[in-house]
Amino acid sequence: MMIDWDNLGFNYIKTPYRYLSIWKDGEWDEGTLTEDNTLHIHEGSAALHYGQQSFEGLKAYRCKDGSINLFRVEENARRMNRSAERLLMAQIPEEKFIHAVKEVVKANEEYVPPYGTGATLYIRPLLIGIGEGVGVNPAPEYLFTVFCTPVGAYFKGGLTPTNFIVSDYDRAAPQGTGAIKVGGNYAASLYPGQEAHDRHFSDCIYLDPATHTKIEEVGSANFFGITKENQFVTPLSPSILPSITKYSLLYLAEHRLGLEVIEGDVYLDQLDQYTEAGACGTAAVISPIGGIQTFDSFHVFYSETEVGPVTQKLYDELTGIQFGDVEAPEGWIQKV
Ligand code: PLP
Ligand code: COI
Repeated sequence: MMIDWDNLGFNYIKTPYRYLSIWKDGEWDEGTLTEDNTLHIHEGSAALHYGQQSFEGLKAYRCKDGSINLFRVEENARRMNRSAERLLMAQIPEEKFIHAVKEVVKANEEYVPPYGTGATLYIRPLLIGIGEGVGVNPAPEYLFTVFCTPVGAYFKGGLTPTNFIVSDYDRAAPQGTGAIKVGGNYAASLYPGQEAHDRHFSDCIYLDPATHTKIEEVGSANFFGITKENQFVTPLSPSILPSITKYSLLYLAEHRLGLEVIEGDVYLDQLDQYTEAGACGTAAVISPIGGIQTFDSFHVFYSETEVGPVTQKLYDELTGIQFGDVEAPEGWIQKV
């Protein structure tokens, strides 16, 4: 195995083992690790035709002492079950989810990047509806798998700011599935995302689907801004994904950095209230936003080339906790 840990992007690198478990006749089988990275499923599987599927994303972090941290893994388990509930899929017992994640990390331990490289092992749990069917109905069987792959920065630039563009497409409907982590939301974001990339932006920013006046989130991360008054502001909306990173930052901004925190409206025509802005998520970590291209202007926040001081502090606090260098709030870290 030859991996250039310092220069990893966000790409699939095959690791030796993944976890697989099947739900059938009302119960889960015991689950097993397998080396086969190809799924064999019925051609009529509801996941393939009607998008009955959900995925999660979390990371394993190598600490200075060589041990491995998981960050708030039970929150991913709970969110996957909220997705499963909304799409009428089988629930996964929280212990089963966490067990599967730990087994996969242990089995692929040598792929957890070394401490100090900034790279991590990205873990992808996936729940899909499988088995015979053709009508629009929930699947008779479910497949739960967890695989992992070592990753570096999601947005090229890492802590160097990159630019984003407001999309005139919606990724989710007000009472739709925006708040759960299901593939359909991401399928809907491919075209606007491609448009953004073609114009050399990192990704697009979606507006609230009802009025198109407020920032909702990025296609793959939540949004936050820091105001002139040192407030940490992040959108509150039923159609954005409740980001575990975002809720962690809300806590850290308030309790560790002493900022006032607000979950509320971020109006597109009031961006000049913000001195810094960023995208946050498991893959994105904290990615500073240099500027946003709106429909009629380009708005620069702190700088197009340098991360702002509050964003830097939040980054240091969050990643310090994840890599075990900063004391974590109770219950945030589980050792593998
Ligand atoms: N928003 C979207 C659309 C995402 O895909 C993600 C990634 O999971 C996030 C936000 C961030 O969520 P989290 O911090 O739980 O990874
Ligand atoms: C994550 O941050 O885990 C995501 O799922 C974002 C993206 C890779 C879809």
